[in-house]
Amino acid sequence: MKRIVILISGRGSNMQAIVRRCAEQQWPAQVVAVIANRPDAQGLDFARSHGIAAAVVDHRAQPSREAFDAQLAQVVDRFAPDLLLLAGFMRILGPDFVRRYQGRMLNIHPSLLPAFPGLHTHRRALQAGCKLVGATVHFVTPELDHGPIVMQSAVPVLAGDDEHTLADRVLATEHVIYPLAVRWYVEGRLQQHDGLVRQLDGASQVLM
Ligand code: GAR
Repeated sequence: MKRIVILISGRGSNMQAIVRRCAEQQWPAQVVAVIANRPDAQGLDFARSHGIAAAVVDHRAQPSREAFDAQLAQVVDRFAPDLLLLAGFMRILGPDFVRRYQGRMLNIHPSLLPAFPGLHTHRRALQAGCKLVGATVHFVTPELDHGPIVMQSAVPVLAGDDEHTLADRVLATEHVIYPLAVRWYVEGRLQQHDGLVRQLDGASQVLM
């Protein structure tokens, strides 16, 4: 059984999708903890009501980024994860933290990376006149929103879209591609080589 720990900052809908799919599809894995950097993160209630350990490492209670990262690593390590997932976790993690979990830490980002790392991805995509947007699941490296890409979803921009309608449609695809990527990881069906990720069964790594 692979042990999964999920970091969130708010709603946690991606975390919920992973917890549900893990149970429904009987992955050889278990979500053992959900950790938030905000005590009011709504996703914590879902974790508690599903019998999953819920913890908070409040970034505002820490004197520096380094202190926050160190405290977070301490709490994460208590749950001995095989896989650490960032799911709407809105804090930048320093290089020491990232190196500690590199190769066993995934993130989902709401853009077709390497386009639009950072915040306000849908607004920026609309402003750039993009006709196609999407989301990316990738291994986390010290560079923000970079790292070997596991899977992407593609979503067309429709006439009349604003950043909210676009965010909703992209989020629906996130709930498909993130659980799938995690399932591949825990089933040992991903291989990384030279910064590229291959799905060993030849399954499509894009959701259109
Ligand atoms: C998701 O759209 C996720 O891709 C994004 O935040 C949202 C969290 O929603 N993440 C980032 O922007 C990270 N750079 P959720 O809390 O309902 O999963």
